[in-house]
Amino acid sequence: MNENGGKGSSADGHGSRQPVHRPVLLQEVMAILELRSGLVVVDGTVGAGGHSRAIVPCIGPDGVLVGLDRDSEILREAQATLGEADVAGAGAGISLFHLPHSGMHEALARIGQSRCDRVLLDLGVSSLQLDRPERGFSFMADGPLDMRMDASSSPTAADWLAEVDERTLADTLFQLGDERYSRRIARRIVEVRRRTKIVRTAQLADLVVDALPGAARGGRIHPATRTFQAIRMCINDELGELERGLAAARDCLRPGGRLAVISFHSHEDRVVKHFLRAHMQVVTKKPIEAGYDEVRDNPRARSAKLRCGVRREDVA
Ligand SMILES: C[S@@+](CC[C@H](N)C(=O)[O-])C[C@H]1O[C@@H](n2cnc3c(N)ncnc32)[C@H](O)[C@@H]1O
Repeated sequence: MNENGGKGSSADGHGSRQPVHRPVLLQEVMAILELRSGLVVVDGTVGAGGHSRAIVPCIGPDGVLVGLDRDSEILREAQATLGEADVAGAGAGISLFHLPHSGMHEALARIGQSRCDRVLLDLGVSSLQLDRPERGFSFMADGPLDMRMDASSSPTAADWLAEVDERTLADTLFQLGDERYSRRIARRIVEVRRRTKIVRTAQLADLVVDALPGAARGGRIHPATRTFQAIRMCINDELGELERGLAAARDCLRPGGRLAVISFHSHEDRVVKHFLRAHMQVVTKKPIEAGYDEVRDNPRARSAKLRCGVRREDVA
């Protein structure tokens, strides 16, 4: 799918789909974006359309929502969500694009806009991606070791693991996963791949557990969580994409326009914090985090941090 412009997207339109993805920090995002009728809003990580679904009624029939996602499969979910009667009926122009958020210039140009008023980035993977074993993001169910957000680009996680040298692998697990046993895990991966290619998520998860000392195998989170996160962030170049997406947002926003970013990882949050300080007027001195009730209902919200900045008037 490339572009699906016009008033609302095609879908069954009966408003009867069950919510498949719970947007994180929804009330907080809606408040900080200060939406009003007629705004042009870019949802750079539209995902299943959870945030966009709430945004559309606030921008009214004169508003424009531009949704981008690197994942064409997930974009179809957004199309269905935003095509539901109550969303499409709000009348805003909705256009969806299979593009990274760094491509927001191109998306805006394709619908005849040069600037926007709001940008939202809700980083990382969606629960829909995690819940589909065939996408290879999760150690919870066995599947091919893929992990690509955009199936048409970059090597799969299996291909990357087959080629990467041990030192780079260990550094990646340490830097992107905060994995303190990075060297042991990297050594084990290199040993195993001499005998057989690591091609399944369960194979990798078991191998990580085997590599850890006994005491490190318990704990609140699965022992392979950090390894999977690090490999996913690496093969999708998530930090590089974030830097390019933030720069694109600053360039596309009109002076006075707002950028809101939700991150789930300390490295991402650091990049966002420094970017906002350097290039925008900071709205959130400290990041906004989910309250007790949201974390209880949606454990994924536990690590979410929302930051917001306003594009300064004085920037050309
Ligand atoms: C946390 S989900 C977003 C959920 C969405 N806000 C919602 O409420 O349904 C993150 C989404 O961003 C997408 N994504 C990640 N990196 C991206 C990038 N650089 N450009 C565009 N989309 C990206 C993923 O494919 C995923 O669908």
